[in-house]
Order: sequence, then C-alpha cells, then structure tokens
Amino acid sequence: MAYLAMMAPRLTELHRVLKRTGTLYLHCDPNASHYLKPVLDAVFGHENFANEIIWRRTTTKNDYKQGAVNWPRVHDVLLMYHRSTSAARAAKRFQQPFAPYDEHYLETFYTFKDPDGRRYRLSDLTAPGQGSRGHPKYDFLGVTRYWRYNKEKMEQLHKKGLVEFRPTGKVPFRKVYLDEMPGVAIGDVWTDIRGMNNLGKEMLGYPTQKPEALLERIITASTKKGDMVLDPFCGCGTAVSVAQRLERDWIGIDIAKLAIGVIRGRLHNQGVDAGYEAKWLPATEDEAAALADEDPFGFQCWILGHLGINPLYQKRGADRGIDGRLFFFDGPDTGRPRQIVFSVKGGILSPVNVRELAGVVRREQAQIGVLVTLHEPTAAMRKEAATADHYRSHDDSLYPGLQILTVKDVLDGKRPQQPNSRTMTFPDPKMAKVGLAAVQQQLLKFA
Ligand SMILES: C[S@@+](CC[C@H](N)C(=O)[O-])C[C@H]1O[C@@H](n2cnc3c(N)ncnc32)[C@H](O)[C@@H]1O
Repeated sequence: MAYLAMMAPRLTELHRVLKRTGTLYLHCDPNASHYLKPVLDAVFGHENFANEIIWRRTTTKNDYKQGAVNWPRVHDVLLMYHRSTSAARAAKRFQQPFAPYDEHYLETFYTFKDPDGRRYRLSDLTAPGQGSRGHPKYDFLGVTRYWRYNKEKMEQLHKKGLVEFRPTGKVPFRKVYLDEMPGVAIGDVWTDIRGMNNLGKEMLGYPTQKPEALLERIITASTKKGDMVLDPFCGCGTAVSVAQRLERDWIGIDIAKLAIGVIRGRLHNQGVDAGYEAKWLPATEDEAAALADEDPFGFQCWILGHLGINPLYQKRGADRGIDGRLFFFDGPDTGRPRQIVFSVKGGILSPVNVRELAGVVRREQAQIGVLVTLHEPTAAMRKEAATADHYRSHDDSLYPGLQILTVKDVLDGKRPQQPNSRTMTFPDPKMAKVGLAAVQQQLLKFA
C-alpha cells in the first residue's frame, strides 16, 4: 500500500524527534487504523501503545444508504502511543479530562440536599470483602463493622459533618457533595465532539479541517503550558491554532502551500501576527514568481495569507473577480462593517485589470479594492487606479479607493491604506456570529 510506504518513514522520524516524555496521536479512519497499528507497534514498541480512541465524528444520517451492505460508518480512530510509557508516567504526562455527570446518574444517586441546597449522594463506609482485604473492624457511632478507613479518619469525617445515617438506616454513610466531584472520567470512546459539518463558526473551507474541541482535548490531556506540539500534517492548522491559544509552542508542517495562507489568516484572527516563522516558502520576488508558475492557487493563498486573509473562504460563493476580502469597522465596533476586496494577479497586467477591479468594488459595495501584482505595475495602471474615488473615514481621513500592492511591497511589510482598526476575515469571533451571507445582507441594508 502506497499510503503505508509514505507513513512508515514519517512515523519513524516522528519517533526519533519525540521527547521521551512525549505522546503521539495518529488520527485516521477505520480503513487505515488496522494497518497503521502494527507499524506503530514496530516503531514505538507495542508496550508503548496507550489507547485506540474511537471518535464518533458524524451521525448515521450522513452515511446511511438504502441497500447498503454494511453499518453506517460514523467514527474515526486515534491511536495513542507514548514515546516511553515509564517516562510519561514519571513526568505525569497525562491529565485525565472529565465530563459532567448525565442527568440520569444525578437523579439516581445525588438524591439528597442540604438545607442550603447543596446536592450530595451517600457512599458506603463499610469495607468490601468482610475484612478479607485487611480493613479494620471496630465500633463507630454504636455500629460494629469492617470499615473502609481507620478510626481516626472516620472520626475526622464525622467532625466535618460528612457522616450521616439514612432516615431509615442503621449504618452510617459518607456524604459526597456533587460540587466537589470532578465529573465522569472521559474514556476512549468520544461521542461528545461534533464533526466539522456541524461547526459552521469554525469552518475555514479546508476540506479535511478538524474541530478545535478535538485538538483541545488531546493537547490539554497530554501536554502542559510551554510544551511543544508538532502536527506534521497540519492542514489548515487546527492543532497550531489551539496550541497557540493554550500557550503551547508549536510546529506545523504541510505539503500543501495553500495551508500556510490559511493558517496565517487564522492566527491573524487570533490576534497573532508575529512570533512565528514560515519556512520553505518564497522569500523573494523570484521565488514568488516560481511559485506562481508552478502552483498558481498556492501562490494566491500564500500572498493573501501575508495580508491576514483566509483565501479558501472565497472559494465557496460565486464571488467573481475576488480572491480575498477583509472587513473592518470604521470607528466603533458596531454598525456597518466596511469591506476591502482583493484581486491577486501573477501575469502581465494592463489598466484593464484595474478597471475590472473598480467594477468589482462597485458591485460588492466595498470601500477599497486592492490589486496584488507579482510584477511592478505600469505607469498607466497607477494612473488608472488614481482616478478612483477615495474612501472618507469617520474621522475625515481619505484613503485611496483603488490600491496596487506588489508582492515585493507585501513581503516588505506594506499593507493596504485603511483606517487604523483591526481587520477581520473569516471566521472571526465578531463576524462569524453573522456569517458571510448575513454580513452581505447587512452591507446592503446600510447601502
Ligand atoms: C487530514 S489533513 C489534516 C487536517 C488538519 N488536522 C486540519 O484540521 O486542517 C492531512 C493533511 O496532510 C497533508 N499532507 C499529505 N501528505 C503529506 C506529506 N507527505 N507531508 C506533509 N503533509 C502532507 C495534506 O496536504 C493535508 O493538509
């Protein structure tokens, strides 16, 4: 299998660079998991196998087909291995996550309440096994039994008011308060994290994007603040974004050039524009030209990412002539969002391209249009751009309505001229609440 031939050397290298206290999670679907497990057993040692986690990522309604001869496929698999189980144990490298108790459990067991409303259950204080496990036998509150704890501890519990007889009972119990319990330990079957199809707010348009909750669970359970998270198939950077938010260091690797643009946009929306480095991407005009030649879409995504734009989001609608959009609020963060539309061009251009963008700006009721060009624009193009109306901001400043930025400008740190407020692309906490369609409606409403 070509897939295994690709994975085996990569897993070997990942094992090589993983710290002794580190953990690997390999996410795959059930078609691959039983092939990958023996490979991982060989690379990591079967004694370091920790879990096969079943993640229910969808419901049967997405996979049920009339006439099918198999059960609907609703889960993915995460194989978890320690680099060294003993080192992970010594470093306490796993923090068990807990989920709230379900209502049925609460109604069955937490049936008692203090006068102040604090809910509790009663737990058995007698020892299991009738003394066969070495528990002590003595008299406590007039009852002689084998008890779970020694007399001193029982008396302490009593003093704290944590021992109680059931109204009809003859044996004392221990009060266990609900608000002191961590919840139910999450096991190796995860049914509480929804797949991407339900997560509109997080959607970036990357086809294999994973939910942040999935990465958050893994990262919080297996790392501490300041640890390093490496995702060698990072796609649109869910692991990168979550690791950043959880204050872990991170490295993301992906073979697809477009991933970097998406990740840059994603980090920008988190307020992170610096403090990381992107490697093996064009650093000069010549390298950018080579990328534009070899992978035009990758080139477009890469340069838009520098401007904090998620390029994939634009692919979804019929946004003719637009490769990217940014939104900003002029003045207070309320009311009408303003819009900058971007067009990226790799080839030889003329004033016609500037006029086309002017048409798009009008059609979209945007405030500013930016043409991003690989080559230096001609004097005629600059002249054409200068004929466009300026955008007047709330504080009466003027900004050119049509702007041209070269790739070199962008690499040198030049950005569109616009009012000095944070720009937003999708999804953004503020804009995501409404979504692209609703923002467009809002724009029309204000037009
Ligand atoms: C399943 S996706 C990962 C999705 C990611 N978890 C996210 O939330 O976006 C797998 C990724 O692996 C990348 N990929 C495939 N082959 C690769 C290789 N040999 N080296 C690095 N990345 C590769 C693909 O481009 C794709 O983005």
